[in-house]
Amino acid sequence: MGIQKICCIGAGYVGGPTCSVIALKCPNICVTVVDRSQERIAQWNSEKLPIYEPGLDDVVKKCRGVNLFFSTDIHTGIQEADLIFISVNTPTKVFGNGKGRAADLKYVEGAARMIADIANSNKIVVEKSTVPVRAAESILNILRANNKPGVSYQILSNPEFLAEGTAIEDLLHADRVLIGGEDTPEGQLAIEELCKVYEHWIPRKNILTTNTWSSELSKLAANAFLAQRISSINSLSAVCEATGADVSEVARAVGLDSRIGSKFLQASIGFGGSCFQKDILNLVYICECLNLPEVANYWQQVIDMNEYQKSRFSNKIVESLFNTVSGKHIAILGFAFKKNTGDTRESPAIHVCKTLLIEGAILHIYDPKVEHDQIMADLTHPSVTEEPEVIRKTVHIYDNAYEAAKGAHALVVCTEWDEFMALDFHKIYQVMMKPAYIFDGRKILNHDALLKIGFHVQTIGKRIQRPIQARLWGSRVQT
Ligand code: NAD
Ligand code: UDX
Repeated sequence: MGIQKICCIGAGYVGGPTCSVIALKCPNICVTVVDRSQERIAQWNSEKLPIYEPGLDDVVKKCRGVNLFFSTDIHTGIQEADLIFISVNTPTKVFGNGKGRAADLKYVEGAARMIADIANSNKIVVEKSTVPVRAAESILNILRANNKPGVSYQILSNPEFLAEGTAIEDLLHADRVLIGGEDTPEGQLAIEELCKVYEHWIPRKNILTTNTWSSELSKLAANAFLAQRISSINSLSAVCEATGADVSEVARAVGLDSRIGSKFLQASIGFGGSCFQKDILNLVYICECLNLPEVANYWQQVIDMNEYQKSRFSNKIVESLFNTVSGKHIAILGFAFKKNTGDTRESPAIHVCKTLLIEGAILHIYDPKVEHDQIMADLTHPSVTEEPEVIRKTVHIYDNAYEAAKGAHALVVCTEWDEFMALDFHKIYQVMMKPAYIFDGRKILNHDALLKIGFHVQTIGKRIQRPIQARLWGSRVQT
């Protein structure tokens, strides 16, 4: 018969887009995405979806109410499904054993227990959440320990590789789909069923099947490799600033080697997002538990370098502004962890803002897609401040970059939104305090043009000359 009904537990950044694309490409399959958050489900059923993702609105509009449903009725969703994706969050543990490093599997366990309670027919249960190696074993233990007569389960690992901001494209044209399962006839049959779902749009040669543990580890490994490239180029950005080399030129020269490749070599203020740090910390923890301290230390360095990069950039702002930002107005352009998303999880902008707030700055923040409440929630979080009331008075959030720049001593680009490249910097220069500084944490602006206008410009991985005017006038102002 094949898979006719799919239920996805978790209507987040992964569950929502993934199931929308499955519904689009598999009109014969009924896909229900369930979540215990009523608010999130209501948003998925509204005109304004809970996440901003280019192309997502169109896909949801085409399928919603046809073969794609968003519901809080978890019971019916699970009961009717042939195949269930577990797509819940797996954040870093904040207490107990492995605090700050291990993945907290309480939501995955919760989902497994719900399935065990509710299911009364055979199910293929698919781990889509990113989990530590051998997590499938725990899920299976929960399911089998609560087995009802006549109900059997197959557990598959099918990690998701989409990146936010390009999720729909990534899902439609995935480099590969990875499916891990048990090396038994039943396991192989389950793998085959899931393959058939993806084969509606992914060529079979791009669907990779492995054993369960390889699949689980490959997801952590892929994120670790990607983040490692960013930390590597960011480490060299510091060398460039100290020597006069230009990190963009170095990245291009290095990346043109076909063995290395050009992607993920963009020096930045550090990587953010809900995955890289969490997954590498998880890998580090697993290595420690396996008594492999050298391996753990190796991957920990990727995180340490990222912290260094965020601090280095933040400190550079303070140092350049005559070593004090107390009482100074600083415009922050971009708060999301990357462009084309409204997600702020682990955004490096939070680190930059925190440093500036500790130093007494007044912040003017603008981001095209992040909700104002989200920015305030992030900056009043206990990990950022013990005085949320003070923050509410010193952080001002604006609806456009020009308003944010008014009266600012400096402008800091934290996210590489395309619209920032098209800003009228003559206009911005007029409304800023002088000397006017720009710190381009994403290397997206035309620095020569900014210098000509009169800005002092600093960026990542490149020494920049003083503004043209300042040089002509023999100014002693540092850049
Ligand atoms: P998310 O926080 O956006 O969504 C998770 C959803 O699960 C939430 O809406 C939550 O309410 C729901 N949930 C939790 N427990 C539940 C339960 N018992 N019943 C019903 N709903 C429940 O998380 P996300 O960003 O979608 O990530 C999900 C998983 O996918 C994580 O393991 C993450 O590491 C992995 N992943 C994320 C990305 C990404 O770009 N965000 C990419 C690849 C993989
Ligand atoms: C990442 C992985 O790319 C994806 O495969 C996985 O499924 C989830 O984690 P995501 O975090 O959504 O995706 O975005 P990504 O494009 O990887 O960017 C992560 C961070 O790295 C962002 O802060 C981004 O700005 C930064 N980055 C990326 C760089 O600093 N330089 C680069 O060259 C690339």
